[in-house]
Amino acid sequence: MSQPLSIIILAAGQGTRMKSSLPKVLHRLADRPLLKHVIDTAYAVGGLDIHVVYGHGGERVPQTLEEERVYWVEQEQQLGTGHAVDQAMPGITDDHLVLVLYGDVPLIKPATLMNLLVAAGRNNLGLLTAELPDPTGYGRIIRDQHGKVLCIIEQKDASDEQRRIREVNTGMLAVNAGRLRTWLKALDNDNAQKEFYLTDVIELAVQDGVEVETCQPGQLPEIMGVNNRAQLAELERHFQLERARELMHIGVTLRDPGRFDLRGKLQVGQDVEIDINVVIEGQVKLGDNVIIGPNNVLRNVTIGDGTRIQANCVLEDAVIGADCRIGPFARIRPETRTGNGCHIGNFVEVKKTVIADGSKVNHLSYIGDTVMGARVNIGAGTITCNYDGANKHQTTIGDDVFVGSDTQLVAPVTVGDGATIGAGSTITKNVPSAELTLSRASQKTIMGWQRPVKK
Ligand code: UD1
Ligand code: CA
Repeated sequence: MSQPLSIIILAAGQGTRMKSSLPKVLHRLADRPLLKHVIDTAYAVGGLDIHVVYGHGGERVPQTLEEERVYWVEQEQQLGTGHAVDQAMPGITDDHLVLVLYGDVPLIKPATLMNLLVAAGRNNLGLLTAELPDPTGYGRIIRDQHGKVLCIIEQKDASDEQRRIREVNTGMLAVNAGRLRTWLKALDNDNAQKEFYLTDVIELAVQDGVEVETCQPGQLPEIMGVNNRAQLAELERHFQLERARELMHIGVTLRDPGRFDLRGKLQVGQDVEIDINVVIEGQVKLGDNVIIGPNNVLRNVTIGDGTRIQANCVLEDAVIGADCRIGPFARIRPETRTGNGCHIGNFVEVKKTVIADGSKVNHLSYIGDTVMGARVNIGAGTITCNYDGANKHQTTIGDDVFVGSDTQLVAPVTVGDGATIGAGSTITKNVPSAELTLSRASQKTIMGWQRPVKK
């Protein structure tokens, strides 16, 4: 089986039933284009030469996936699956084993494809088939009385009796390139759809005395294609359930595996708990004993041991230390970094800010472009005025600072260690260490003042 492998991914179809201006293979599953799933699987199978046949949607497909290590082959007119495969053949030498995949069948697994390559071996044609409860629409596998595969008949060309066969063609196959090239040249489009069918290659193989070895996928969703948005949602759920099961298997508590969405990579420590409706995007790393409450979005974040993210927070491009408490209703924006034991409370937005150990911003605040020391307490409603309409400015807060509620820190400004700022202050100048600073109109009382009364 040590023949060089070339993989052809068919992705030229229009996908009319998606009712979309986006080419079908660019619709996303777990936040990755369908075609990207298949390309990643092709890499995993060890395909160094991957040819993607595109057509509908024009350059949008190669442009979107321009970073992939694949050859892009344009099929100008969609004249059928056989014609599509043939477009890639000039780039493949006769000694290669060719594996055909589909850009709209995203969940095919490397292990299944390895079995298919073994079935093909050096001399056979490997064909991936499946028994379906309802085979309607698929090509049927026709076998002789000894079970030998003879050919594939498409639904539209099949007799009533053939339509009762439940073993279907998944479309995926593997065979020697030299032979495939010869058979593709012999195809005609004399059929119900006036297309050059890849499936007709099976009969030509049998005529040439090549054995057709079939194998089956581990599970049916692997071979399911996406033709409409309902099928896309179905495969998304299948994919997510599988991810959820993997996580539970390695020791993560998921309150409801049916309400969990992994759209990136998740690395976890021990005894992590994840409540319902949590969306994980990009690269997320959770330490030991992290608790993620319900309705959280975590995108590219690292969270330290023992930290609890309470309900309804959005965290993006941030590093949160150990034993912190975030939320509920906190928004942590990019380039935020906290030490250990920090609290970021409800209705608090933090951006591009470093917060040292033990500091607390508990209520209704905006902290941006700030460096904050340790053990600082930021009172409710504190705002760093970091933007003057043209430029952003820095706020620096020392250790052990107490900022009274409803304070505006007009940046650039520095608050010294141990300083106390009185509530309601607008701070426009640097604040010295260890002193009380406030800016507030003094309170007065008008004795004997009468409220107006209605005439
Ligand atoms: C095909 C198979 C059928 C199989 C089914 C599995 C043929 C003739 N039939 O039927 O036996 O049961 O898949 O889903 O192969 N494509 C191109 N260029 C083309 C035509 C198709 O790139 O000119 C791509 C499509 O984008 C799609 C795939 O090939 O990803 C299959 O094409 P489609 O027309 O959907 O084939 P089916 O009729 O479903
Ligand atoms: Ca199809």
